[in-house]
Amino acid sequence: MAVSAAAAPAAEPLPRSIFKKFLVMLCSLLMSLYVFYCLADRCQTLPGPIIAAGAASEEEEGGGGGYLGGSAELPPWQAAAARRKRLLQRLKQRRRRQEAAPGPEVPAGDGGSRAGGSGGGGGGGSAAGTAGTLTLLLGEGSKRLPQAIIIGVKKGGTRALLEFLRVHPDVRAVGAEPHFFDRNYERGLAWYRDLMPRTLEGQITMEKTPSYFVTKEAPARISSMAKGTKLIVVVRDPVTRAISDYTQTLSKKPDIPTFESLTFKNRTTGLIDTSWSAIQIGIYAKHLENWLLYFPIGQILFVSGERLISDPAGELGRVQDFLGLKRIITDKHFYFNKTKGFPCLKKAEGSSKPHCLGKTKGRTHPDIDQEVVQRLRDFYRPFNMKFYQMTGQDFGWD
Ligand code: A3P
Repeated sequence: MAVSAAAAPAAEPLPRSIFKKFLVMLCSLLMSLYVFYCLADRCQTLPGPIIAAGAASEEEEGGGGGYLGGSAELPPWQAAAARRKRLLQRLKQRRRRQEAAPGPEVPAGDGGSRAGGSGGGGGGGSAAGTAGTLTLLLGEGSKRLPQAIIIGVKKGGTRALLEFLRVHPDVRAVGAEPHFFDRNYERGLAWYRDLMPRTLEGQITMEKTPSYFVTKEAPARISSMAKGTKLIVVVRDPVTRAISDYTQTLSKKPDIPTFESLTFKNRTTGLIDTSWSAIQIGIYAKHLENWLLYFPIGQILFVSGERLISDPAGELGRVQDFLGLKRIITDKHFYFNKTKGFPCLKKAEGSSKPHCLGKTKGRTHPDIDQEVVQRLRDFYRPFNMKFYQMTGQDFGWD
């Protein structure tokens, strides 16, 4: 009796201890809520996850400079917050898509809407992807102007090259096409830099905008940003490229005239309409002359669009050497997807799932009159020869 009487005052009354526990739980709940609140950009006292720019879909797919989305008109922190929100939404959407995808044979999106980041390909790529994500979330590194740019050519295989390169842990790239040196130049370099993903020391910042190759002002503008910028051009047989370009336009505007009728100024005389952009873009030698006024040929790498399909690892090896990167992307990263008919990545960015480019890449082309195809081959031949001479590479298009 005496023991229990002595022990009784030491024990805390039951309601008080429950109250203490409740208080602790409430505090933790409030703190978690605050963290989520800040991550959702509702507060400005804590930094939210820093993300790379890359809002719009690819220009040629979306029909024009959709990058901006109005954020350039907002104060910088609001623009960053808006981008963060868009990224979070996109990440959620992508996760939903990936969960819905039945298996490796189903191609994922083409990646044009992805924010910048190093990918998670095979052979250690996942770890790199996780490190990249951590860098994003911690807001580490800094935004830098690109040291390398894929400047062309439209329909050459530029998206495939960028997606494959992003597997490299030392490459960080903007997902969408910034179109800075052609459409948005007046926005200034600070605007351009802000679109870039954050990079750590030693990582390369990249972007791709295929229309730069045919933009008269682009060489001078890129050179004035940095003379040493490395340039990459993915080239493809100009005849197939023209048909691919036409196929893309046709998919958006089914009522356009036939390829055959657009090719000629006058079908009877056989005069080719070189003002039609689908034809004009393929005169590579002419466009290259403009670049050589500002850049030495050794600063431009020409990637074969054909070999990017038949031997992606081989072409990626050349690109990694050119960029001064360790050869990390190898044939182990690719598999040939029979349904897609193209090489795909064994592991998508930050995921363990395979990744093919979307359905806007690798379209079926319409049948074109063989006589017209031959006429175009004859037309391009001298330009192709000149291009081989200028680059010191025979692309085998004849
Ligand atoms: P097609 O759709 O005419 O076949 P870009 O990305 O520069 O717009 O180029 C698109 C072209 O990339 C496609 O043209 C396709 O041929 C080519 N390509 C190269 N590698 C590819 C890959 N792994 N998956 C899909 N398309 C690829």
